[in-house]
Amino acid sequence: MTTLTPILTKNWDRADSFTRAGYERDGGYEALRAAFRMEPDEIVQAVKDSGLRGRGGAGFPTGMKWGFLPPTSPNPRYLVVNADESEPGTCKDIPLMMANPHVLVEGVIISSYAIKSNLAFIYVRGEVLHVIRRLHQAVAEAYEAGYLGKDILGSGYDLDVVVHSGAGAYICGEETALLDSLEGFRGQPRLKPPFPAVAGLYGGPTVINNVESISSVPSIIANGPEWFASMGTEKSQGFGIFSLSGHVTRPGQYEAPLGITLRELLDMAGGVREGHRLKFWTPGGSSTPIFTDEHLDVPLDFESVGAAGSMLGTRALQIFDETTCVVRAVLRWSEFYAHESCGKCTPCREGTYWYKQMLKRLEAGQGSEEDLETLLDLSDNILGRSFCALGDGATSPVVSSIKLFRDEYLRHFELGACPFDPAKSTLWG
Ligand code: NAI
Ligand code: SF4
Repeated sequence: MTTLTPILTKNWDRADSFTRAGYERDGGYEALRAAFRMEPDEIVQAVKDSGLRGRGGAGFPTGMKWGFLPPTSPNPRYLVVNADESEPGTCKDIPLMMANPHVLVEGVIISSYAIKSNLAFIYVRGEVLHVIRRLHQAVAEAYEAGYLGKDILGSGYDLDVVVHSGAGAYICGEETALLDSLEGFRGQPRLKPPFPAVAGLYGGPTVINNVESISSVPSIIANGPEWFASMGTEKSQGFGIFSLSGHVTRPGQYEAPLGITLRELLDMAGGVREGHRLKFWTPGGSSTPIFTDEHLDVPLDFESVGAAGSMLGTRALQIFDETTCVVRAVLRWSEFYAHESCGKCTPCREGTYWYKQMLKRLEAGQGSEEDLETLLDLSDNILGRSFCALGDGATSPVVSSIKLFRDEYLRHFELGACPFDPAKSTLWG
């Protein structure tokens, strides 16, 4: 039986967990002192050895990404924290920054020192004003204590941190759109390569990491890479925050080793709400193919979820019970993608619009099985042909729901209505 590993979430229930004093009382900023006793390259090696993989969804090895920075460059190096958490169902970075902003600030300082950068940005989703205020406060407290600014703790190392607010576009969580937005342009993805590590912010070598990835660095430095690598699975090491939402008794953030299963997490969360049963769920937000109760024992690590036909993504476990219409859920997600598509490339711009139009009709029971083939054909023209991951992600709920719940789509056509609408449905007696 896997148990929880509260590390980043350890003090969330303390009244002063977000203050510098509260963080320091529990050993906060000690990892920074330890880091300054190390050479920058030693820290990069420690992060590589820990096996930490990007917690923003893609799971790219963090230390390897840092290692891609060119040894010399005419431009300064930057660290950018991607705090634009917006994936439907994803709710780990925002509570983390609210409850424990100093672990992120400490992670930013250690990581910037490791990659030899003197300027870091935290790009926060624009809608979460309370988080932006809290980060401003934490950064100001860090300056007051001499953790930021010139000659930090007498180390001779200088670092400034800028908290920057986005303007409410999902696409700005895509790392190169984020860079455009930070530079003051309309946020749209850039062609890769070059990857940001080579040519990123203002053309300088830039490391972009997710909030949870950077927040994991202090504990790796404090406890050693072997400690981190001893948790999780062989290829997905360490712990992560799993966010349970929807039809679950105790929704919330559960920090656990990668490889835990939904069955185990549901046991801890009191199960699916009383009197109901699991129908479908997302392993990593709406951009990952949905799962059903057949997948309750799939270890939630990058490899196992991939082998079972989905992606671990952001570990946003949205739980839906038997009262949910899968077609309606997919319609809602498709409306989101159509709204958030940046419009740069045709497959995504047009495809997500057509998804929305078609699914609206299908959900209302106006359609035929042939329409499902058209939806799948449309998906083939989006997947792998879109400029960035948004287009690909939009196909996941559509394709997986047709594969797993074709009968439910057909039932809509038979009834000429949504079977889950009590006003129209015969299923509700
Ligand atoms: P990706 O796999 O293209 O890249 C992942 C990271 O590795 C990037 O930082 C990229 O620069 C770096 N990288 C990859 N190959 C590289 C190379 N050869 N050289 C240097 N750097 C390299 O994935 P992407 O498009 O950045 O992210 C997609 C993921 O984002 C999805 O899996 C999804 O789960 C997640 N996502 C998260 C959201 C959130 O709110 N947290 C929102 C939407 C998507
Ligand atoms: Fe923009 Fe969508 Fe194309 Fe990405 S896939 S560049 S979001 S239109």
